[in-house]
Amino acid sequence: MKLHHPELIDLLQQAYSAEKAAAFAYQGHAASLKTEEEKKAVHQIEIDEWNHRHEVLAIMKQYEVPVSKYYELRFHIIGKMISWSCFVIGRFMPFYFAGRLESGNVCEYFRMKQFFNTMGITEHDTVLYEMGIKEKEHEVYFAERVSNSKLLPFFEKLFSWSAKQSFNNIDLDKKHPVEESGHYCNNGKHFF
Ligand SMILES: [Fe+2]
Ligand SMILES: [Fe+2]
Repeated sequence: MKLHHPELIDLLQQAYSAEKAAAFAYQGHAASLKTEEEKKAVHQIEIDEWNHRHEVLAIMKQYEVPVSKYYELRFHIIGKMISWSCFVIGRFMPFYFAGRLESGNVCEYFRMKQFFNTMGITEHDTVLYEMGIKEKEHEVYFAERVSNSKLLPFFEKLFSWSAKQSFNNIDLDKKHPVEESGHYCNNGKHFF
């Protein structure tokens, strides 16, 4: 079956390539960190992103959605640049911008779920829900890493993100199951 939903097709293609950018970025980020504990945590997040890429590709194949060569190249370059930059921009910024990025990514998967649901397709609900929740866990991890930094109030003002100011409306402490998650990222506006 082919998809006749340009917005969803674009979202899938972009997510597929952006997961590669994220994975590359976390390779540099993990390598630039000092403690084994943090290296391990960021490396695990890199593995999560490769898994997401795999899951997104499976959905794309099912609907004959081609991989976008443009997004692949663009996100390859972005990912590598972020990866290298982690060695020169200090400790705070890689954590802060990773958290900010993850915060926006959360809703991509819930938006995909909503788009599929409008076409009566529910078979991807669980996998999309789980990917969205995983991105939220990543956001929370990064937010915690910078929560005590003196730089946070300044960056919070300039880039509009922190643990208190997320781009999505998901609260992991009061998590709703997949069948009650319709209101996630669905208040009529985009969070990013
Ligand atoms: Fe991801
Ligand atoms: Fe992530």
